Amino acid sequence: MIQKLIADRLSYRGYRRKPWKKYQESVEAHYSGIAGKFLRSCSMVSLHEPLASVFFKRGGFPLDDCSRILDVGSGAGQLLTHLVKHASSDCEIVATDLSTRMLERTRKRIDDPRITFVTADLLKLPFEDGTFDCATCGWVLEYLPDPEPGLRELSRVVRPGGRILLQCTENTVFGAMSSRLWKCRTFQREELETECRRAGLSWERELWFTRMHRVLRLGGIIVEVRTAS
Ligand SMILES: C[S@@+](CC[C@H](N)C(=O)[O-])C[C@H]1O[C@@H](n2cnc3c(N)ncnc32)[C@H](O)[C@@H]1O
Repeated sequence: MIQKLIADRLSYRGYRRKPWKKYQESVEAHYSGIAGKFLRSCSMVSLHEPLASVFFKRGGFPLDDCSRILDVGSGAGQLLTHLVKHASSDCEIVATDLSTRMLERTRKRIDDPRITFVTADLLKLPFEDGTFDCATCGWVLEYLPDPEPGLRELSRVVRPGGRILLQCTENTVFGAMSSRLWKCRTFQREELETECRRAGLSWERELWFTRMHRVLRLGGIIVEVRTAS
């Protein structure tokens, strides 16, 4: 309870003060600029990138039955790195981000013929319904003050019964500090679950980086959701 109160007070609120368009422009500028340049280094220091390998290695989020994978908000390619390693050799992977600059940096680092890079807003994905077998969306939903339209868009482009891996900043003290640094909102677990259900996604499995993360409730909300069959 005290944790939640502190987290509420600490977490970033800039997105409430600015009109939506202005806020989204500031997010794009944030990642196209210096913050985006150091994003990968930060993910290595926080261990978010290396730890994400556990989902794909231990079969937490298997990719072998996927021939088309979408990664939304690829950023510095923290999840893309793992997708490339674990997806089948003939799989198509589409990496999207709001920031073209961010994608250019990532393309230089992760050069794989299976990947297509597309500048796109999660709220308006330029793909037909049911294009992908599965999708990953790591630390992006927190840039939508109202996540439901983004979740609906993910649900639309993934085939019926397909899986989506979501990673979101949680409303904890650590999450709130991170939200200040990265200028995003935070989520209560129950709130995100409700939003997913509202968007027609079933809340399948909560995942954790390690047992220690689960016990100490660290590492954010990581969940596998599924589109309706
Ligand atoms: C914290 S980074 C996440 C990077 C990576 N997915 C990961 O797992 O660490 C957030 C990324 O989401 C992108 N982003 C923010 N809002 C977005 C939106 N509406 N549509 C697509 N990408 C967005 C940002 O440009 C940034 O590259």
